[in-house]
Amino acid sequence: MEKKDYLKREVEHIDIKSFNAIPIIEQFDKTAFQARNLARAAKIYDRMLSDKDCSIILCLAGSLFSAGLRKIVHDMIENNMVDMIVSTGAIIVDQDFFEALEFKHFQGTPQSDDNELMEMMIDRIYDTYIDEEHLRICDMTVSEIANNLEAAPYSSREFIKFMGKYLKEKDMGKESVVRISYEKNLPIFVPAFSDSSAGFGLVYHQWNRKDKLKVSIDSVKDFLELTKIKVNSKETGLVMIGGGVPKNFAQDVTVAAEILEKTVNMHKYAVQITVADERDGGLSGSTLKEAHSWGKVDEGSEQMVFSEATIAFPLLASYAYHRGNWKKRKSKNFNTLLDGKEI
Ligand SMILES: NC(=O)c1ccc[n+]([C@@H]2O[C@H](COP(=O)([O-])OP(=O)(O)OC[C@H]3O[C@@H](n4cnc5c(N)ncnc54)[C@H](O)[C@@H]3O)[C@@H](O)[C@H]2O)c1
Repeated sequence: MEKKDYLKREVEHIDIKSFNAIPIIEQFDKTAFQARNLARAAKIYDRMLSDKDCSIILCLAGSLFSAGLRKIVHDMIENNMVDMIVSTGAIIVDQDFFEALEFKHFQGTPQSDDNELMEMMIDRIYDTYIDEEHLRICDMTVSEIANNLEAAPYSSREFIKFMGKYLKEKDMGKESVVRISYEKNLPIFVPAFSDSSAGFGLVYHQWNRKDKLKVSIDSVKDFLELTKIKVNSKETGLVMIGGGVPKNFAQDVTVAAEILEKTVNMHKYAVQITVADERDGGLSGSTLKEAHSWGKVDEGSEQMVFSEATIAFPLLASYAYHRGNWKKRKSKNFNTLLDGKEI
């Protein structure tokens, strides 16, 4: 097989507008196990959208966009169904920005010959393939963006804004989460920004700057910025897909605000879709009930859903989209709050 034979069938993105999940979620609600948990989570998310005081934080981990979930998040941003995002470099740079540069993810199989893939510079994520040569262009584009900035420390949010500006100026990435976030003034935080294609690009940038001043990423600034949003929001709700760093980072802002001697409520609503469970004591599977003991998540409107996200997330998002409570919400423009005035 040649490389082009592997990279044939593009992963297509799920469109939550194209099907109405209300009837299946209502039926799930009358059943048991994870179907009922998903119905409860979808209803809690819908309550967040109806609560005019609630700012919604969407946390994304795993390989969601390479698996076809990118358009869901794009449409949630476009329709004011979310107010800020906390995610990983893999999702935001390797997958979203990558596709905005007009590269694709392809359907493959876990049974493939991985040595042959390596020799052809094809990377595999379970049953999908990526052209490593395209990823290198993505790395170098991040480096190019850094080269054109004033040498200084930036929060990942600030740097991702420049990535959105780059796409807009080049008129690329119409369905990109990075681009629509830039256009809608919606912050994206990636606390472990360097652990991705962005890291390769920034390593290249810093190496070539030698003794000159360099662009760097200040993750403390990210934490402070997210904490400022929390302090400025009467209530907050978490929609978490996967787990990992985004889950903990977003939950921790209640404690950070307390340390700054600001009075804030715990996250009032929280739902999580994950395949991790709680038995190993790991963060990704720790329950939202447990998070209450840490003073992070309030009791009563929290729900874990133990399911793989490519199945459960489209149903949850389609339910909320078709319920339509987002129509009463406006863009919260949190980038303007962070860039324009101090609290
Ligand atoms: N995932 C990748 O392909 C990839 C690629 C390059 C870099 N990275 C980097 O690795 C670091 C860790 O990434 P991560 O936080 O995504 O780690 P991860 O992939 O281990 O995901 C964290 C947790 O989320 C849950 N999860 C993941 N996918 C899920 C799914 N489809 N459905 C339900 N639950 C799911 C699992 O419980 C997992 O333990 C990040 O800095 C990221 O940028 C990841």
